[in-house]
Amino acid sequence: MNLFENTTIGGIELRNRLMRSATATFMADDKGYVTPRVKEVYQELSEGEIGLIIFEDTGVGENTLESKHLMIGNDSYIEGYKEIVDQIHSNGGKTIIQLSHSGILRKGEKVVDVTNGFDDRLITKEDISEIVELYGNAALRAKKAGFDGIQIHAAHGYFLTKFLSPYFNRRNDEYGGSVEKRARVVVEILNNIKAKCGTDYPVFLKLNSSDFMAEENTNTLTEAKQIAIMLDKAGIDAIEVSGGVSGGVYGPARNKIFKQENEAYHKENASEIAKIVSVPVIVVGGFRSLEVAEEALQEQNVEAVSLSRPLVREPQLVKRWKNGDTSKAMCVSCNACFNMDGAICAFNKKKRA
Ligand SMILES: Cc1cc2nc3c(=O)[nH]c(=O)nc-3n(C[C@H](O)[C@H](O)[C@H](O)COP(=O)(O)O)c2cc1C
Repeated sequence: MNLFENTTIGGIELRNRLMRSATATFMADDKGYVTPRVKEVYQELSEGEIGLIIFEDTGVGENTLESKHLMIGNDSYIEGYKEIVDQIHSNGGKTIIQLSHSGILRKGEKVVDVTNGFDDRLITKEDISEIVELYGNAALRAKKAGFDGIQIHAAHGYFLTKFLSPYFNRRNDEYGGSVEKRARVVVEILNNIKAKCGTDYPVFLKLNSSDFMAEENTNTLTEAKQIAIMLDKAGIDAIEVSGGVSGGVYGPARNKIFKQENEAYHKENASEIAKIVSVPVIVVGGFRSLEVAEEALQEQNVEAVSLSRPLVREPQLVKRWKNGDTSKAMCVSCNACFNMDGAICAFNKKKRA
């Protein structure tokens, strides 16, 4: 396996095995529509010869993500995405959209925040059916916009991570208790997307290989493996392995990646998951050198490597590597790009001003 060979992953033909992991631009307008700044980010990425661009987390319904996030809660959003998708396609790339929900529920006029935990009274079965519908409908809109597939965001502490976690999910019905029950909602979302978009429409999952929380009774690699097996059996097309929640022992975007030993911090867990599922596994987290990415492919059973922060600083990094300049990514993992005024690298600010 070579990083730069053509391949098919999760049913999508790709020009290489390097991906852009979903990265919020924080550049949407106040209703979650695409802005010229969002287009500019994807224009640059589309010219970077990346195999698969995983489009940033996008709210499945009205107000399902915090402000500055993109939304796809009704048909009026479709048009804005079409132009970006076409641009990526015309530059030889592929793109899937990450569908997400923060866990702030709107019940009529009422706003219910379930981000600190929930039981079956706070989220009823009707609420669950509505959430499953939101994902299916959002996926169909994404398909109409031309996206090559969907990624269900079940990592990093967002709503589905909490459904999967025994720490936050305190239900006693068929959606809580055992790992199987906690993962049921993700399976239902997958089934609904496939029912609405067709069984051939690729659906990927971003999964925490561990939540890395200090508290007892949280998800670790043991549970992540069980969840991965369940989703594999249910028909997921690929799994991107990440880890961590904000406020946890480790967040998803670690810093202080100075040496190669600090890179690729989910590679062992990704490898463990790859051994037990039939679908391709993608690994994200701290890749900065081409050698480390190649090594992961050769030694860790994974089929692709995805990057986030390095592509914020250098949208053309993959092209640069492919063309022979294989020096490590310039990203210093400072996380200054995690900025609600726009995820721009501090080193690129002058250029963008
Ligand atoms: C500015 C910023 C925005 C991010 N947005 C998302 C997102 O929308 N969805 C997601 O799954 N992860 C998101 N992440 C996490 C990254 O996808 C990735 O998992 C993490 O940064 C580790 O990879 P890296 O070392 O290549 O940056 C974001 C990270 C950053 C820094």
